[in-house]
Amino acid sequence: MTQIDKTKPVLVTGATGYVASWLVKKLLDEGITVHAAVRDPNKKEKVVHLDAIAAKSKGSIKYFKSDLLDKGSYAEAMKGCELVYHTASPFTTDVEDPQKDLIDPAVKGTENVLETANQTPSVKRVIITSSCAAIYTDTIECHRLPGGKFTEEVWNTTASLDYQPYSYSKTLAERRAWEMARAQQQWDLVTINPSLVMGPPLNPQASSSDSLNVLKQLGDGTLKFGVPKMGNGLVDVRDVAEAHFAAGFTPGAHGRYITSGHNTNFLEMALALQPKFGKEYPLPKRALPKWLLMLVGPMVNKLLTRRFIKNNINVEWRADNSKIKKELGINFRPMKESMEDAFQAMIDNNVFREKG
Ligand SMILES: NC(=O)c1ccc[n+]([C@@H]2O[C@H](COP(=O)([O-])OP(=O)(O)OC[C@H]3O[C@@H](n4cnc5c(N)ncnc54)[C@H](OP(=O)(O)O)[C@@H]3O)[C@@H](O)[C@H]2O)c1
Repeated sequence: MTQIDKTKPVLVTGATGYVASWLVKKLLDEGITVHAAVRDPNKKEKVVHLDAIAAKSKGSIKYFKSDLLDKGSYAEAMKGCELVYHTASPFTTDVEDPQKDLIDPAVKGTENVLETANQTPSVKRVIITSSCAAIYTDTIECHRLPGGKFTEEVWNTTASLDYQPYSYSKTLAERRAWEMARAQQQWDLVTINPSLVMGPPLNPQASSSDSLNVLKQLGDGTLKFGVPKMGNGLVDVRDVAEAHFAAGFTPGAHGRYITSGHNTNFLEMALALQPKFGKEYPLPKRALPKWLLMLVGPMVNKLLTRRFIKNNINVEWRADNSKIKKELGINFRPMKESMEDAFQAMIDNNVFREKG
């Protein structure tokens, strides 16, 4: 049982990010002092939304310059904190060098933050933003599991440097975190493992999150002739923030938490937008046939390999989200709301090049 004192500052690494910004908002609204570790506090366009939120909330925010690959650079930000949220990690699938661009920052960054936790006596609990990507690589894997669903017991054993390296980076980073947690007794570790995060960004211009690229392709006409019916999970970014908060302040929180509201697929996600936005935007209405994807997929997108298509397209995604509901009291909002609010935010921010 770990009791966190709300009067002590709370560290959030990667505070500028899509997911972290909502967590920072939640902490500030609760009156907490947030130590926001960011790569460049002087880049005003990256932090302006956080300043605006802080100005209207009970809490306060203080920025620290830290980089995942710069050893010791989280020490100042962690001073006096009982609770550490480690969210920073590159979230992209478009990389040149997976080792340098994904694995190193994810794994060495986690080591860096946790080594600093070991040297900071105030730290009692660390929450790591892991991912369902640390549980599986291909949707088909859930069908081979005993209950036919992904659970917290399952670990990704199929991602590699050559196949789905983002998933590999999240798996290696989370595994290393548990190893380091077991090697000490000062702090406990809890991981939040979200599926695809959706919902309105607090600062879309600054976010490089791949979540929003998915939405952009749905609305800008890229997928107007059809969408690959890829099985995936979906969770609202605001619910992910609630999950992080609850994991931090629930004394008995423990282990991994699958944080996923809905078992769905890209076609269902696109169709959820039809009633409100279908007239004005070239949203896809149908699934692209699997045979067609097999034929042209590998030529149009280096990630759409035959292996990927075979194991993910027209394959139902299923995960068990009962642990987080029961232990942390998380309720997930309807998928339609997440999709509509995210899409509206993209419109408001003039993200779509082409309208239908
Ligand atoms: N979005 C999803 O669907 C999803 C699903 C499951 C898990 N996650 C996890 O959630 C976390 C946040 O992702 P997100 O979607 O919010 O993506 P994001 O908006 O791209 O945020 C990533 C954050 O990591 C920081 N970062 C990246 N490389 C860094 C480095 N070398 N040093 C310091 N900071 C660095 C970024 O800082 P800058 O602002 O300086 O670039 C940014 O604040 C990640 O751990 C991701 O794996 C995301």
